[in-house]
Amino acid sequence: MRADVVVVGAGLFGLTVAERCASAGLDVLVLERRDHIGGNAWSEDDPQTGIEVHRYGAHLFHTSNERVWGYVNRFTAFTDYQHRVWTTHRGEVFPMPINLATINQFFRTNLGPAAARALVAGQAGELSADAATNLEERAVALIGRPLYEAFVRGYTAKQWQTDPRDLPPEVISRLPVRYGYDTRYFSDTYEGLPVDGYAAWLQRMADHPRIEVRLGVDVLDPRASIGRDHLVGRVPVVTTAPVDRWFDYAEGRLSWRTLDFEREVLPVGDHQGTAVMNYADDDVPYTRVLEFRHFHPERAHYPDDRTVVVREYSRAAQVADEPFYPIGTPHDRAALLRYRERVAAESGVLFGGRLGTYRYLDMHMAIGSALTLVDNQLPRLLRGRASGL
Ligand code: FDA
Repeated sequence: MRADVVVVGAGLFGLTVAERCASAGLDVLVLERRDHIGGNAWSEDDPQTGIEVHRYGAHLFHTSNERVWGYVNRFTAFTDYQHRVWTTHRGEVFPMPINLATINQFFRTNLGPAAARALVAGQAGELSADAATNLEERAVALIGRPLYEAFVRGYTAKQWQTDPRDLPPEVISRLPVRYGYDTRYFSDTYEGLPVDGYAAWLQRMADHPRIEVRLGVDVLDPRASIGRDHLVGRVPVVTTAPVDRWFDYAEGRLSWRTLDFEREVLPVGDHQGTAVMNYADDDVPYTRVLEFRHFHPERAHYPDDRTVVVREYSRAAQVADEPFYPIGTPHDRAALLRYRERVAAESGVLFGGRLGTYRYLDMHMAIGSALTLVDNQLPRLLRGRASGL
């Protein structure tokens, strides 16, 4: 195929760029390392139960961005699912993030907002947030020791596989506490899940006569049939591959956290009564349990005698692991500045998405930033383009 532009990575960022370019009359070649499109938002039906499982962890769509909401609704309708999270601590279940219900249940009180605020402020006064030298001190300064020890210490230690006293205070800038009984997890204007699943939504974005998707092509693998060195300088490229790998780790490796998922089909119709149950204590090795049937209570075809649960474990990513959350140590931040200089000097290539920019992006942010890149940066790239592939 002739390509006016090549997009590396078929996640939400890459698919948005590809779809916008194709709709504007350009021929787009999308090269994807995995055997499926959609990046980390991909989902599949569990073969035993038909229950939709998000392969790379729970994905809840939410946004207050009107443009993004209008755009995504071209490809899928959304259910009215509203996300709520619960957490188990010492055999008791509490609503998360910490709100008035959590506080009153935990302290066995019936405080109103002002009294609860005063209680937490009094407990938080033990330390100053600015003077904190580690994550534990910062958290105690924000919400006080009792709530920290119940809901933050064990969970954070499991997330990082590190004692919070050995983590830098910058890992948390704030810990949300709500002084009301709203237990909704997100406060965005729009929220929901794609009615017929993520895979159908993502496939519709790629389904355009001017888009060709080639799966199983890692453009940074020297053995790839179409590799970085074949593309750069010959065709405009938008890449969502990891920025450090793009430059052969010349400025060092950027560090990430990854997740391990332990999937199981249980012989019951409902295991935990909710989609996400966190486990706050460190004697439970996983951070949370996802039960996927609860994301779609409207689906009548789900079986009533089996359910799919996924236990999630968190740890630092090694070279061969999927990079999920950027860690952002001082070393990472310094390396990222040097990579940004290389990005600026890389002629004919635009970098985007969570791997290409080393930023955690929610789905709506990935889509929004892709739309902005198409508006603001792509026209210049296309004007100066070589003849195309
Ligand atoms: P994404 O990682 O999805 O896509 C990049 C693609 O590039 C991948 O398909 C990859 O294989 C490909 N690629 C990389 N290197 C390549 C190479 N060398 N050659 C070819 N292809 C290459 N968001 C949200 O809004 N609500 C939520 O609930 C969640 N939940 C959530 C849970 C977990 C565990 C994670 C890790 C993330 C979320 N997210 C989320 C974030 C969401 O996954 C994120 O917004 C999108 O994945 C971003 O899309 P990108 O296209 O930037 O990256």
